Amino acid sequence: MSLTEKFPRVDLTHRPTPLELLNNVSAEFGTRVWIKRDDCTGLAFGGNKSRQLEFYIGQALEQGADTLLTTGAVQSNHVRMTVAAARKMGLEVEVQLEHRVARQHPEYHQSGNPYLVKLMGAKIHYYPEGEDEAGADQVLELRAAELAREGRKAYVIPLSNAHTPYGALGYVEGAEEMMQQLYAMDVEPTRFIVPSGSASTHTGFLLGVRANDCETPVHGVCVRRDATSQRRRVATKLQAVSDVIGIDIRIPESDILCDDSMLAPGYGLPNDATVGAIKYLARREGILLDPTYSGKTFAVLLAMLQQGDYQRNDNLVFLHTGGTASLFAYPELVEE
Ligand SMILES: Cc1ncc(COP(=O)(O)O)c(C=O)c1O
Repeated sequence: MSLTEKFPRVDLTHRPTPLELLNNVSAEFGTRVWIKRDDCTGLAFGGNKSRQLEFYIGQALEQGADTLLTTGAVQSNHVRMTVAAARKMGLEVEVQLEHRVARQHPEYHQSGNPYLVKLMGAKIHYYPEGEDEAGADQVLELRAAELAREGRKAYVIPLSNAHTPYGALGYVEGAEEMMQQLYAMDVEPTRFIVPSGSASTHTGFLLGVRANDCETPVHGVCVRRDATSQRRRVATKLQAVSDVIGIDIRIPESDILCDDSMLAPGYGLPNDATVGAIKYLARREGILLDPTYSGKTFAVLLAMLQQGDYQRNDNLVFLHTGGTASLFAYPELVEE
């Protein structure tokens, strides 16, 4: 029985997403590099958030909600996919865009995700802070109360770690799906490489892998906080997700791997290695990454490959979580 079976959910994801070998990268480095294509989940440009939204929206519908409220950075993929999911489910949707990234480029504010959010007709609010998750969530609650006075019923998809992370259930299930693919192909994974932002993906994935009796390291790549803070965040989320599922899987803190080597200069700001990794994968495999999440995650993997740490029989598995719509907000990546 799947660990997530008892939770209300809706179906938003094209699944199973492919698990493919990166042939050219593998040949170049003399090892096997796999990619789990969660950039192909199919919801308005795809990405990891469709798996997470299935559980939030399942609960929203169960509670009789008619409107979704959520918050995120200006180029948030979560916000874009929440709007798409709301439209698919026939719900109203309002989003709050936070001033989190110091970028003045007009494209950052108009192209990519905010363009798509406007195209899908969501009501947009703005929040002047970028590092105040609790405050941002609180404004959503106030808006929900306001809507209630108008006879509406809003469901808040929160951001801060103080809430039960139902979204992480999506990656408990995503990991189960991937483990089945690996077993079916008789592939013994050496290392998983995943992004770690709000930490729902990292937490759910780690739990899902361990619940499948697989002890392969799950290498979390920090995109928002340093490794120490992120490890704490994942540990808190692991406890909360285990509690809500009702399982007793002990994952020691030493098993929570957080790597902040690509974090600088900060959230939403790609460094040279990240830009290099984005161009490398685009030019070697025709696969697109984004500057905030998947580009930084693949950059960590590429650095490992360049160090020559892996052999012919190793299997590295990269979780591609999408985010590619935001490429259009970074035109300087291709400016000579
Ligand atoms: C494309 C992409 N990858 C990875 C992440 C990180 O996922 P999580 O917030 O579950 O850690 C996000 C989060 O917004 C994302 O948009």
